[in-house]
Amino acid sequence: MSQKTALITGASSGIGWATAQALDKHNFQFILCGRREDRLHELAQTLTNKSTLLTFDVRDYQEVQSAIASLPEAFRTIDLLD
Ligand SMILES: NC(=O)c1ccc[n+]([C@@H]2O[C@H](COP(=O)([O-])OP(=O)(O)OC[C@H]3O[C@@H](n4cnc5c(N)ncnc54)[C@H](OP(=O)(O)O)[C@@H]3O)[C@@H](O)[C@H]2O)c1
Repeated sequence: MSQKTALITGASSGIGWATAQALDKHNFQFILCGRREDRLHELAQTLTNKSTLLTFDVRDYQEVQSAIASLPEAFRTIDLLD
């Protein structure tokens, strides 16, 4: 099964955190988003598959644009948005 990429907003807590853990069993790699980088690191350490972290405030359009533009090549094809 080929690996897919999931971009998860609000991954540092609650539903986003739980969604990443659930999808980890289904061969996804992750783009984990939120403002609290320490929490995103903590989540990444619980996942089997690879993650890249994007810390930005969704209310700031420029921050969103530059975060998405900074994605490494291997994470640029997004299969699932949560
Ligand atoms: N929990 C439920 O059972 C439930 C049921 C139905 C609907 N909902 C809705 O689903 C949503 C999430 O619920 P939750 O329980 O998962 O809440 P939560 O635990 O408070 O998580 C909210 C997430 O959103 C992120 N976030 C908040 N403001 C942000 C901002 N300005 N920029 C970037 N990220 C931001 C937070 O990360 P940072 O603080 O790190 O940025 C955090 O990861 C809420 O709107 C809630 O009303 C929840």
